[in-house]
Amino acid sequence: MPTSAAATDLDLFERYDRDGRLAQYRELRELGAVVHLDRHDIYAVTRYDEVRSALENHETFISGEGVAFTDTANAVIRRTTLASDPPEHDLLRSVVATGLQPRAVRGRRDEIVAKARGVVDAALAKEEIEGVSDLAQAMPLSVIPDFLGLPRRNREHLFEWAQGGTDLLGPVSERTPRNIELSRCIAEFTVELAERRELAPGSLGADVLAAADAGVIPPDKCPALLIDYLGPSLETTATAIGHLLVTFAERPEQWRILRDDPALVSSAINELVRFESPIRGFTRLTAHDTVLGGVPIPEGARIWNLLASANRDERKWERPDEFDVRRNPLDHLAFGYGTHGCAGQGVARLELHALFHALLESVERIELTGEPVIAENSMLNTWERIPVRLVRERSPR
Ligand code: HEM
Repeated sequence: MPTSAAATDLDLFERYDRDGRLAQYRELRELGAVVHLDRHDIYAVTRYDEVRSALENHETFISGEGVAFTDTANAVIRRTTLASDPPEHDLLRSVVATGLQPRAVRGRRDEIVAKARGVVDAALAKEEIEGVSDLAQAMPLSVIPDFLGLPRRNREHLFEWAQGGTDLLGPVSERTPRNIELSRCIAEFTVELAERRELAPGSLGADVLAAADAGVIPPDKCPALLIDYLGPSLETTATAIGHLLVTFAERPEQWRILRDDPALVSSAINELVRFESPIRGFTRLTAHDTVLGGVPIPEGARIWNLLASANRDERKWERPDEFDVRRNPLDHLAFGYGTHGCAGQGVARLELHALFHALLESVERIELTGEPVIAENSMLNTWERIPVRLVRERSPR
């Protein structure tokens, strides 16, 4: 028999310290698999099995009414692949995902490896670095804009825009007016790119225009699909790289294990995004009355799939709060799951792979030189600042 959801007035958006957030997730999981957050009138899905089941059941938990907390933000992402349902979703995704297929991505491998080497060498040339701008953002910024075929202009704004756009997906806060402004910049830029056909030949962006020219999608869909690329492709990967720096600086023995056996890099990437999920979670709307985790959820309610909590669920993982590069948790949910599972994870993994190897080749230790600062962002678990030193290997391997 379904029992009504546990409820709490816990504020999931007031804490910007890591331990505080993890303690909140733990508290929620103990309360139930589905817990009503009274402050935001939303059902948080907290445990691994139920998050995965909600993501799988895309006909009950729909994305077409948006994956954000508020109507304002859902209006901004309307018509994107992220915020659509089949059959429209499948058509849009076929366009967005084509250039991100493993074969297409593998073709860029050498280029990405060279870029990672360049980013690490530039960081090594400095005594101390600011890990977020000098390494975490520098890597995707060296790869993604060229991959998308973007012009040079506005590249310096892409992170700020994407951060604001992602933060806007959470509840209203004092940052909302500014986030709306930043989201407008990104939307206007994508309209300009499509209208002026400013995307380099052979790029992912040019493929979107070509799909419209061929009548596969209506031409007015192009800006939304460019938002699908620009929104989630930079900050997510930068977030994972930021966590790489902090996690290994805090656990030098794990860095040594990886240096002794670089074949563990793929496993380390999975463990990194399980342990510190870059995206806390997106929402869905319930299409009809349903039951999830034994809890009835009415039609029209919003749920929040807490990927970050599922990835630490003690019911699923042994020693969930331990970071272990040998664990290889293939079924983590950091890239989502099911119909909307991350279309760009092949590129993200390749960037992370290349960067890990470039660092392993020449960095003996990663040392924090100050306290890293968490960014105030409702949907991303990311860093504002990471003061760090890369201690160079004396005789490179
Ligand atoms: C570590 C890096 C990344 C993480 C953690 C990540 C995470 C995610 C997650 C959790 C979703 C699912 C959203 C949902 O269920 O509503 C998603 C979707 C998506 N991601 Fe990523 N992402 C990353 C990198 C990228 C990159 C590099 C690109 C593009 C080049 C990209 C493009 C997309 C797109 C287009 C979707 C929408 C897919 C759909 O709705 O069918 N992502 N991502």
